Amino acid sequence: MFKKWLSYFVPILIYEKKSALSKNLEITWNNGELVLDSKNTNYSYGSLQRILRIGLTHIGFQNVFKMENILVLGVAGGSVIKTLANEIKYSGRITGVEIDPEIIAMANKYFHLDQIPNLQIVIDDAFEFVLKTKEKYDLIIIDIFQDTTMPNFLFEKFFANRLGMLLNDKGFLLFNTMTLTESHNLRNEKYISEFDSSQFKVEKIPRLEAHNELLVIQKT
Ligand SMILES: C[S@@+](CC[C@H](N)C(=O)[O-])C[C@H]1O[C@@H](n2cnc3c(N)ncnc32)[C@H](O)[C@@H]1O
Repeated sequence: MFKKWLSYFVPILIYEKKSALSKNLEITWNNGELVLDSKNTNYSYGSLQRILRIGLTHIGFQNVFKMENILVLGVAGGSVIKTLANEIKYSGRITGVEIDPEIIAMANKYFHLDQIPNLQIVIDDAFEFVLKTKEKYDLIIIDIFQDTTMPNFLFEKFFANRLGMLLNDKGFLLFNTMTLTESHNLRNEKYISEFDSSQFKVEKIPRLEAHNELLVIQKT
């Protein structure tokens, strides 16, 4: 309790671990909230949770509540999963795909992710999982970072097409992107332009928490 109180004045680091993929993983009390950060960015809770909550608000909490099957690519501490379970009261299936087993151990220990009954965690590379899965989803949340870097496969037409095929009609992709430079803006524009507008409606929610752009893509 004291650490939480003190964290309104100064961040309090409570656990730190080296990570090949994310450089460093840190659990910190920050402004009265327990957050998970990589070396250079917030991974879960804090601003990351606020960004994805805006995306879910855009889709509509009522619409999400009625869905049956949701896929989350990139789990970390599981803050968007907490928004689904605790705020939206979504009770359908959630599959969370995460490449780093250490991060899931931290999510279970510090954020009790293993207490969400409708959540199944798969330790896998999101690219591999998306190729293998035979299921269809009402919502796919793409939130994959290796520290501040987004792997290139996320923006490849092949991967976007495959995600489109995995969506049910009227289903949504919610894609969290980081836009730090003009080349990132161009990368996003190219990505959007590759969706067939007769089949998909694409919307952008720009400049969230300064550096993020959310893409909301609906299969029509
Ligand atoms: C920003 S965090 C995800 C935050 C999470 N969605 C939340 O709501 O709290 C990004 C995560 O992507 C994971 N990641 C990076 N590359 C991946 C890959 N190829 N496949 C699956 N997960 C990956 C990282 O290990 C990290 O946990």
